[in-house]
Amino acid sequence: MSLTIGVDIGGTKVGGGLVDENGNVLGTARRPTPADDQAGVIQAVKEVVDELRAGHEIEAVGIGAAGWISSDRSTVMLAPNVSWKNEPLRDKVTAVIDLPVVVENDANVAIWGEHRFGAAKAHRSSVLYTIGTGVGGGIVVKDNLLRGTHGVAAEIGHIRSVMPGGRECGCGRTGCLEQYASGRALTRAARDGAAETPAKAPVLLKLAGGDPDAITGRQVTEAAREGDEVALAAFDSIGFYLGNSAADMVNLIDPGVILIAGGVVDAGDLLLDPIRRHYTEALANRALVPVAEVRAAELGSKAGVIGAADLARHRDIVP
Ligand code: BGC
Ligand code: NA
Ligand code: ZN
Repeated sequence: MSLTIGVDIGGTKVGGGLVDENGNVLGTARRPTPADDQAGVIQAVKEVVDELRAGHEIEAVGIGAAGWISSDRSTVMLAPNVSWKNEPLRDKVTAVIDLPVVVENDANVAIWGEHRFGAAKAHRSSVLYTIGTGVGGGIVVKDNLLRGTHGVAAEIGHIRSVMPGGRECGCGRTGCLEQYASGRALTRAARDGAAETPAKAPVLLKLAGGDPDAITGRQVTEAAREGDEVALAAFDSIGFYLGNSAADMVNLIDPGVILIAGGVVDAGDLLLDPIRRHYTEALANRALVPVAEVRAAELGSKAGVIGAADLARHRDIVP
């Protein structure tokens, strides 16, 4: 049996999985992501790989990381929410684990996992959003991961047509989708709403001890479940931007399915319902034309690990 390892470098943890050719995860390992410490991240990846490879023959390692990755899948050229600039991730990891390594964007590995083994399996073309600290995008067209000319296609979170001249983004521009539709944007909308209209945020304010600035993402979900008006409005706000963006993807890609992944999806229909509502509204003129369903990704937090491992297995086929 041929095994590869997939590793997902996230904002809070470095998670890895030992994966077979059918996408089954046979073992997992994780380490916290050291903040602002590149050498520490490499060390965490090494430890995760070492733990998973013990007693197994491993072919290669795939790594999912946030940011713009070079077309040869070696270097994180720039990552808006991580302090990486021209970081030669592949070579640094290869040097300490001595296995072939492939580096790919974190949202790209997630759509690849879903395409091969998850919620996008039945479709040849699909789009995925990851909603977390940032907003990531992944696109598969006719069974190929869309990587573009320079390896950096599908940065849907930095499409700024939603609000040109709007909020400043970590990428150096203004008005990117990420600033209006991420987990951070959800929390910000709830904090602003609770400060402006405290009477409409009773649950939120109770959970946060009365201080709007202390509201956390988890509390927004909890308060929305209990019907808190401001918390529900915060979900509606990110749903508005995501639903409209997804409708743009329909016009551009005509995917078979649109998937929503990432931490905020734990909120389930609290997030999916507003996205679907705004998506359907934005596509109302298309009543005679079939459109993709918007669904939650299926492999959850494992999508990235499974996708990265599969890309490592097929590393000789660079799209
Ligand atoms: C980055 C993407 C990444 C996403 C999710 C964005 O800010 O530009 O490359 O996929 O965050 O981590
Ligand atoms: Na991407
Ligand atoms: Zn941006």
